[in-house]
Amino acid sequence: MPLLPKTVQPNSGEDHFDKQGFPHFMLKEIYQQPEVVRTCLAHYLNSNPDRPFNLPDRPIPNQIHLLACGTSWHACLIAQHWLEQIAGIPTRVRAASEFVAAPFPPTSNILTIAATQSGETADTLAAVQLARHSQTHLFGITNQPESSLSQIVDRTLLTHAGREIGVAATKTFLTQLLVFYCLTLDFAHQRQQLSGAQMQDAIAKLHALPDHITTLLQQDSAIQTLAQSFATAEHCIVLGRGIQRPIALEGALKLKETTYLHAEGYAAGEFMHGPIALLDARIPVIVLAPAGSVYPDTLANVRKIKANGASVLGIVTAGGEADFDRAIVLPSIDESLSPFLSVIPLQLLAYHLAVLRGLDVDRPRNITKTLTE
Ligand code: F6R
Repeated sequence: MPLLPKTVQPNSGEDHFDKQGFPHFMLKEIYQQPEVVRTCLAHYLNSNPDRPFNLPDRPIPNQIHLLACGTSWHACLIAQHWLEQIAGIPTRVRAASEFVAAPFPPTSNILTIAATQSGETADTLAAVQLARHSQTHLFGITNQPESSLSQIVDRTLLTHAGREIGVAATKTFLTQLLVFYCLTLDFAHQRQQLSGAQMQDAIAKLHALPDHITTLLQQDSAIQTLAQSFATAEHCIVLGRGIQRPIALEGALKLKETTYLHAEGYAAGEFMHGPIALLDARIPVIVLAPAGSVYPDTLANVRKIKANGASVLGIVTAGGEADFDRAIVLPSIDESLSPFLSVIPLQLLAYHLAVLRGLDVDRPRNITKTLTE
Protein backbone atom coordinates (compact mmCIF):
# COMPACT_ATOMS: atom_id res chain seq x y z
CA MET A 1 0.00 0.00 0.00
CA PRO A 2 1.51 3.39 -0.95
CA LEU A 3 2.13 5.90 1.80
CA LEU A 4 -0.38 8.67 1.29
CA PRO A 5 -0.49 10.58 4.55
CA LYS A 6 -3.31 13.04 4.84
CA THR A 7 -2.45 16.70 4.79
CA VAL A 8 -2.64 17.94 8.34
CA GLN A 9 -2.75 21.61 9.21
CA PRO A 10 -2.54 21.37 12.98
CA ASN A 11 -2.56 25.07 13.58
CA SER A 12 -5.26 25.99 11.09
CA GLY A 13 -8.52 26.96 12.73
CA GLU A 14 -6.99 26.89 16.18
CA ASP A 15 -8.56 30.21 17.07
CA HIS A 16 -11.89 28.38 17.15
CA PHE A 17 -10.50 26.46 20.08
CA ASP A 18 -10.77 28.36 23.29
CA LYS A 19 -7.74 28.73 25.52
CA GLN A 20 -10.25 28.88 28.39
CA GLY A 21 -8.42 31.66 30.14
CA PHE A 22 -4.97 30.08 29.80
CA PRO A 23 -2.36 32.27 28.08
CA HIS A 24 -1.24 29.39 25.83
CA PHE A 25 -2.58 26.08 24.57
CA MET A 26 0.42 24.24 26.01
CA LEU A 27 -0.45 25.36 29.53
CA LYS A 28 -4.13 24.57 29.02
CA GLU A 29 -3.21 21.10 27.77
CA ILE A 30 -0.91 20.47 30.74
CA TYR A 31 -3.78 21.43 33.04
CA GLN A 32 -6.21 19.19 31.16
CA GLN A 33 -4.23 16.12 32.16
CA PRO A 34 -6.32 15.08 35.20
CA GLU A 35 -9.45 15.28 33.04
CA VAL A 36 -8.03 13.41 30.04
CA VAL A 37 -6.64 10.66 32.26
CA ARG A 38 -10.15 10.25 33.74
CA THR A 39 -11.69 10.15 30.26
CA CYS A 40 -9.16 7.67 28.94
CA LEU A 41 -9.58 5.41 31.99
CA ALA A 42 -13.35 5.48 31.55
CA HIS A 43 -12.85 4.05 28.05
CA TYR A 44 -10.46 1.29 29.04
CA LEU A 45 -11.66 0.16 32.48
CA ASN A 46 -14.88 -1.60 33.34
CA SER A 47 -16.28 -3.17 36.51
CA ASN A 48 -15.96 -6.81 35.43
CA PRO A 49 -13.33 -8.35 37.75
CA ASP A 50 -12.80 -11.24 35.29
CA ARG A 51 -11.94 -8.95 32.39
CA PRO A 52 -11.38 -5.43 33.78
CA PHE A 53 -10.03 -3.87 30.55
CA ASN A 54 -11.89 -2.97 27.38
CA LEU A 55 -9.14 -4.11 25.05
CA PRO A 56 -9.23 -6.28 21.94
CA ASP A 57 -8.85 -10.04 22.36
CA ARG A 58 -5.52 -11.21 21.09
CA PRO A 59 -3.12 -14.12 21.61
CA ILE A 60 -0.24 -13.70 24.04
CA PRO A 61 2.72 -12.80 21.78
CA ASN A 62 6.20 -14.26 22.16
CA GLN A 63 7.57 -10.77 21.71
CA ILE A 64 6.24 -7.23 21.41
CA HIS A 65 7.77 -4.65 19.06
CA LEU A 66 7.17 -0.96 19.68
CA LEU A 67 7.67 1.71 17.02
CA ALA A 68 7.31 5.49 17.33
CA CYS A 69 9.10 8.83 17.03
CA GLY A 70 9.93 11.65 19.44
CA THR A 71 7.73 11.89 22.51
CA SER A 72 5.76 8.83 21.40
CA TRP A 73 9.04 6.89 21.28
CA HIS A 74 9.65 7.91 24.88
CA ALA A 75 6.22 6.51 25.78
CA CYS A 76 7.29 3.26 24.11
CA LEU A 77 10.48 3.10 26.19
CA ILE A 78 8.38 3.29 29.36
CA ALA A 79 5.95 0.73 27.94
CA GLN A 80 8.87 -1.61 27.30
CA HIS A 81 9.75 -1.44 30.98
CA TRP A 82 6.15 -2.23 31.99
CA LEU A 83 5.59 -4.99 29.45
CA GLU A 84 8.80 -6.75 30.45
CA GLN A 85 8.80 -6.14 34.19
CA ILE A 86 5.06 -6.45 34.92
CA ALA A 87 3.66 -8.62 32.12
CA GLY A 88 6.89 -10.57 31.57
CA ILE A 89 6.80 -10.29 27.75
CA PRO A 90 10.11 -9.63 25.95
CA THR A 91 9.72 -6.26 24.25
CA ARG A 92 11.87 -4.38 21.75
CA VAL A 93 11.62 -0.68 20.93
CA ARG A 94 12.98 1.09 17.90
CA ALA A 95 12.63 4.69 16.82
CA ALA A 96 10.41 4.39 13.76
CA SER A 97 12.79 6.69 11.88
CA GLU A 98 15.51 4.01 12.30
CA PHE A 99 13.34 0.99 11.64
CA VAL A 100 13.40 0.95 7.87
CA ALA A 101 17.22 0.95 7.91
CA ALA A 102 17.32 -1.72 10.62
CA PRO A 103 14.09 -3.71 11.00
CA PHE A 104 13.75 -6.39 13.68
CA PRO A 105 14.54 -9.87 12.35
CA PRO A 106 11.27 -11.73 11.72
CA THR A 107 10.23 -14.29 14.35
CA SER A 108 6.93 -15.98 15.08
CA ASN A 109 3.99 -14.63 17.07
CA ILE A 110 4.90 -10.96 17.30
CA LEU A 111 2.63 -8.10 18.26
CA THR A 112 3.81 -4.79 16.82
CA ILE A 113 2.44 -1.61 18.35
CA ALA A 114 2.97 1.75 16.67
CA ALA A 115 2.36 4.86 18.78
CA THR A 116 1.74 8.23 17.15
CA GLN A 117 -0.48 10.90 18.61
CA SER A 118 -1.24 12.34 15.16
CA GLY A 119 -1.45 9.02 13.35
CA GLU A 120 0.24 10.76 10.42
CA THR A 121 3.98 10.76 11.17
CA ALA A 122 5.62 9.60 7.93
CA ASP A 123 8.46 7.68 9.61
CA THR A 124 6.04 5.77 11.81
CA LEU A 125 3.71 4.95 8.92
CA ALA A 126 6.68 3.73 6.84
CA ALA A 127 7.83 1.53 9.73
CA VAL A 128 4.33 0.07 10.11
CA GLN A 129 4.15 -0.68 6.38
CA LEU A 130 7.44 -2.54 6.62
CA ALA A 131 6.41 -4.43 9.77
CA ARG A 132 3.26 -5.62 7.97
CA HIS A 133 5.42 -7.75 5.70
CA SER A 134 6.54 -9.88 8.64
CA GLN A 135 3.08 -11.32 9.38
CA THR A 136 2.93 -9.49 12.68
CA HIS A 137 -0.27 -8.63 14.46
CA LEU A 138 -0.46 -4.80 14.36
CA PHE A 139 -1.93 -2.39 16.88
CA GLY A 140 -1.83 1.39 16.66
CA ILE A 141 -2.08 3.81 19.57
CA THR A 142 -3.20 7.24 18.43
CA ASN A 143 -5.25 10.26 19.35
CA GLN A 144 -6.79 10.48 15.85
CA PRO A 145 -9.51 7.95 15.01
CA GLU A 146 -9.57 8.87 11.32
CA SER A 147 -5.81 8.87 10.85
CA SER A 148 -3.73 7.11 8.22
CA LEU A 149 -2.36 4.86 10.98
CA SER A 150 -5.85 3.58 11.79
CA GLN A 151 -6.25 2.47 8.17
CA ILE A 152 -3.15 0.27 8.14
CA VAL A 153 -3.23 -1.44 11.56
CA ASP A 154 -5.41 -4.34 12.67
CA ARG A 155 -6.70 -2.54 15.75
CA THR A 156 -6.59 1.09 16.85
CA LEU A 157 -6.41 2.01 20.53
CA LEU A 158 -7.44 5.62 20.97
CA THR A 159 -5.96 7.88 23.61
CA HIS A 160 -9.07 10.09 23.94
CA ALA A 161 -7.00 13.14 24.86
CA GLY A 162 -8.99 15.64 22.80
CA ARG A 163 -7.33 17.89 20.28
CA GLU A 164 -3.80 18.98 21.20
CA ILE A 165 -2.86 22.29 19.61
CA GLY A 166 0.44 23.12 21.31
CA VAL A 167 3.25 21.66 19.22
CA ALA A 168 4.87 20.16 22.32
CA ALA A 169 3.07 16.93 23.13
CA THR A 170 1.87 16.83 26.74
CA LYS A 171 -1.58 15.35 27.34
CA THR A 172 -1.23 12.98 24.38
CA PHE A 173 1.96 11.59 25.96
CA LEU A 174 0.26 10.95 29.30
CA THR A 175 -2.67 9.18 27.66
CA GLN A 176 -0.37 7.06 25.47
CA LEU A 177 1.25 5.93 28.71
CA LEU A 178 -2.15 5.14 30.15
CA VAL A 179 -3.14 2.95 27.18
CA PHE A 180 0.19 1.13 27.38
CA TYR A 181 -0.23 0.61 31.12
CA CYS A 182 -3.74 -0.81 30.71
CA LEU A 183 -2.46 -3.12 27.97
CA THR A 184 0.37 -4.22 30.27
CA LEU A 185 -2.05 -5.03 33.10
CA ASP A 186 -4.33 -6.85 30.66
CA PHE A 187 -1.42 -9.00 29.48
CA ALA A 188 -0.36 -9.58 33.09
CA HIS A 189 -3.93 -10.72 33.81
CA GLN A 190 -3.98 -12.96 30.74
CA ARG A 191 -0.64 -14.50 31.76
CA GLN A 192 -1.72 -14.75 35.43
CA GLN A 193 1.22 -12.66 36.51
CA LEU A 194 -0.88 -10.74 39.05
CA SER A 195 -3.31 -12.09 41.65
CA GLY A 196 -6.88 -10.77 41.74
CA ALA A 197 -6.01 -8.64 44.77
CA GLN A 198 -2.90 -7.22 43.06
CA MET A 199 -4.98 -6.35 40.00
CA GLN A 200 -7.63 -4.61 42.07
CA ASP A 201 -4.88 -2.67 43.85
CA ALA A 202 -3.31 -1.67 40.51
CA ILE A 203 -6.68 -0.49 39.20
CA ALA A 204 -7.39 1.50 42.37
CA LYS A 205 -4.02 3.22 41.92
CA LEU A 206 -4.92 4.11 38.34
CA HIS A 207 -8.17 5.68 39.55
CA ALA A 208 -6.14 7.77 42.02
CA LEU A 209 -3.91 9.24 39.27
CA PRO A 210 -6.07 12.26 38.31
CA ASP A 211 -6.16 13.51 41.92
CA HIS A 212 -2.39 13.07 42.24
CA ILE A 213 -1.89 15.10 39.04
CA THR A 214 -4.22 17.82 40.34
CA THR A 215 -2.21 17.98 43.58
CA LEU A 216 1.01 18.24 41.61
CA LEU A 217 -0.31 21.04 39.41
CA GLN A 218 -0.75 23.08 42.59
CA GLN A 219 3.04 23.49 42.57
CA ASP A 220 2.87 25.38 39.30
CA SER A 221 3.76 28.78 40.73
CA ALA A 222 6.74 27.29 42.60
CA ILE A 223 7.92 25.76 39.31
CA GLN A 224 7.41 29.12 37.57
CA THR A 225 9.72 30.69 40.17
CA LEU A 226 12.22 27.87 39.69
CA ALA A 227 12.24 28.52 35.95
CA GLN A 228 13.82 31.91 36.64
CA SER A 229 16.96 30.19 37.88
CA PHE A 230 17.29 28.57 34.41
CA ALA A 231 16.77 31.88 32.57
CA THR A 232 20.40 32.39 31.56
CA ALA A 233 21.49 28.74 31.39
CA GLU A 234 22.86 27.60 28.04
CA HIS A 235 23.00 23.90 28.85
CA CYS A 236 21.09 21.62 31.16
CA ILE A 237 21.33 17.93 32.01
CA VAL A 238 18.32 15.77 32.88
CA LEU A 239 19.02 12.38 34.45
CA GLY A 240 16.92 9.37 35.38
CA ARG A 241 17.47 5.69 36.05
CA GLY A 242 15.27 2.68 35.23
CA ILE A 243 11.74 3.75 34.42
CA GLN A 244 12.75 7.40 34.85
CA ARG A 245 15.33 7.30 32.04
CA PRO A 246 12.72 7.85 29.31
CA ILE A 247 11.29 10.72 31.37
CA ALA A 248 14.77 12.27 31.43
CA LEU A 249 14.80 12.03 27.61
CA GLU A 250 11.29 13.46 27.42
CA GLY A 251 12.05 16.32 29.83
CA ALA A 252 15.14 17.24 27.82
CA LEU A 253 13.11 17.11 24.60
CA LYS A 254 10.43 19.41 26.06
CA LEU A 255 13.13 21.87 27.17
CA LYS A 256 14.91 21.79 23.80
CA GLU A 257 11.85 22.26 21.63
CA THR A 258 10.10 24.95 23.64
CA THR A 259 13.02 26.92 25.17
CA TYR A 260 15.88 26.21 22.68
CA LEU A 261 18.02 25.44 25.71
CA HIS A 262 20.58 22.72 25.00
CA ALA A 263 19.24 20.02 27.29
CA GLU A 264 20.58 16.47 27.39
CA GLY A 265 18.57 13.58 28.78
CA TYR A 266 20.73 10.73 29.99
CA ALA A 267 20.62 7.52 32.00
CA ALA A 268 21.90 8.56 35.45
CA GLY A 269 24.34 5.66 35.73
CA GLU A 270 25.70 6.05 32.21
CA PHE A 271 26.28 9.74 32.82
CA MET A 272 29.11 8.76 35.16
CA HIS A 273 30.95 7.05 32.30
CA GLY A 274 32.29 10.16 30.62
CA PRO A 275 29.62 12.87 30.26
CA ILE A 276 30.09 13.93 33.89
CA ALA A 277 33.23 15.67 32.61
CA LEU A 278 30.91 18.31 31.13
CA LEU A 279 29.75 19.57 34.49
CA ASP A 280 30.60 22.80 36.20
CA ALA A 281 28.65 25.23 38.35
CA ARG A 282 27.05 26.87 35.27
CA ILE A 283 25.22 23.72 34.13
CA PRO A 284 22.07 22.96 36.10
CA VAL A 285 21.30 19.27 36.56
CA ILE A 286 17.79 17.89 37.04
CA VAL A 287 17.56 14.41 38.52
CA LEU A 288 14.38 12.33 38.48
CA ALA A 289 14.52 10.51 41.78
CA PRO A 290 11.15 9.40 43.15
CA ALA A 291 11.31 6.74 45.88
CA GLY A 292 11.80 3.22 44.58
CA SER A 293 14.24 0.41 43.96
CA VAL A 294 16.74 2.55 42.02
CA TYR A 295 16.76 5.47 44.46
CA PRO A 296 19.97 4.48 46.33
CA ASP A 297 21.91 4.16 43.07
CA THR A 298 20.52 7.45 41.77
CA LEU A 299 21.51 9.13 45.00
CA ALA A 300 25.06 7.80 44.70
CA ASN A 301 25.19 9.48 41.25
CA VAL A 302 23.81 12.73 42.69
CA ARG A 303 26.56 12.83 45.32
CA LYS A 304 29.23 12.57 42.62
CA ILE A 305 27.53 15.27 40.56
CA LYS A 306 27.35 17.63 43.54
CA ALA A 307 30.99 16.94 44.31
CA ASN A 308 31.72 18.37 40.84
CA GLY A 309 30.15 21.68 41.81
CA ALA A 310 26.87 21.35 39.90
CA SER A 311 23.59 22.46 41.43
CA VAL A 312 21.04 19.64 41.41
CA LEU A 313 17.28 19.97 41.25
CA GLY A 314 15.59 16.76 42.40
CA ILE A 315 12.17 15.58 41.33
CA VAL A 316 11.49 13.42 44.34
CA THR A 317 8.83 11.99 46.59
CA ALA A 318 8.52 13.05 50.24
CA GLY A 319 11.70 12.45 52.19
CA GLY A 320 14.01 12.87 49.19
CA GLU A 321 14.24 16.69 49.38
CA ALA A 322 17.19 16.77 51.77
CA ASP A 323 19.51 15.09 49.26
CA PHE A 324 19.18 17.87 46.67
CA ASP A 325 19.97 21.58 46.41
CA ARG A 326 16.37 22.20 45.36
CA ALA A 327 13.44 19.83 44.98
CA ILE A 328 9.98 19.40 43.55
CA VAL A 329 8.09 16.90 45.66
CA LEU A 330 5.71 14.53 43.87
CA PRO A 331 2.73 12.91 45.60
CA SER A 332 3.69 9.44 46.89
CA ILE A 333 3.24 6.86 44.16
CA ASP A 334 4.39 3.36 43.20
CA GLU A 335 7.64 3.39 41.27
CA SER A 336 6.00 1.78 38.23
CA LEU A 337 3.44 4.59 38.01
CA SER A 338 5.88 7.39 38.79
CA PRO A 339 6.36 8.48 35.11
CA PHE A 340 2.74 9.70 35.08
CA LEU A 341 3.75 12.31 37.66
CA SER A 342 7.45 12.98 37.19
CA VAL A 343 7.01 14.28 33.64
CA ILE A 344 4.62 17.04 34.71
CA PRO A 345 7.12 19.32 36.52
CA LEU A 346 9.33 19.07 33.41
CA GLN A 347 6.44 20.06 31.14
CA LEU A 348 5.74 23.05 33.39
CA LEU A 349 9.40 24.01 33.64
CA ALA A 350 9.75 23.93 29.85
CA TYR A 351 6.59 25.99 29.46
CA HIS A 352 7.54 28.68 32.00
CA LEU A 353 11.10 28.94 30.76
CA ALA A 354 9.88 29.40 27.17
CA VAL A 355 7.53 32.18 28.30
CA LEU A 356 10.33 33.78 30.32
CA ARG A 357 12.53 33.75 27.21
CA GLY A 358 9.78 35.44 25.21
CA LEU A 359 9.35 32.50 22.83
CA ASP A 360 6.32 31.37 20.87
CA VAL A 361 5.57 28.48 23.18
CA ASP A 362 2.73 26.94 21.15
CA ARG A 363 4.63 27.15 17.86
CA PRO A 364 8.36 26.67 18.38
CA ARG A 365 10.64 27.46 15.45
CA ASN A 366 11.61 24.87 12.83
CA ILE A 367 9.03 22.22 13.80
CA THR A 368 5.43 21.42 13.02
CA LYS A 369 3.06 19.32 15.07
CA THR A 370 3.04 16.53 12.53
CA LEU A 371 5.97 15.47 10.36
CA THR A 372 4.26 14.08 7.29
CA GLU A 373 7.41 13.87 5.21
C1 F6R B 1 7.53 16.54 20.96
C2 F6R B 1 6.73 16.07 19.86
C3 F6R B 1 7.36 15.25 18.80
C4 F6R B 1 6.41 14.13 18.39
C5 F6R B 1 6.96 13.32 17.21
C6 F6R B 1 6.04 12.18 16.85
O1 F6R B 1 6.77 17.29 21.85
O2 F6R B 1 5.56 16.34 19.80
O3 F6R B 1 8.58 14.71 19.22
O4 F6R B 1 6.22 13.29 19.49
O5 F6R B 1 7.11 14.18 16.10
O6 F6R B 1 4.75 12.65 16.63
P1 F6R B 1 3.55 11.66 16.62
O7 F6R B 1 3.30 11.19 18.01
O8 F6R B 1 2.39 12.45 16.08
O9 F6R B 1 3.92 10.53 15.71
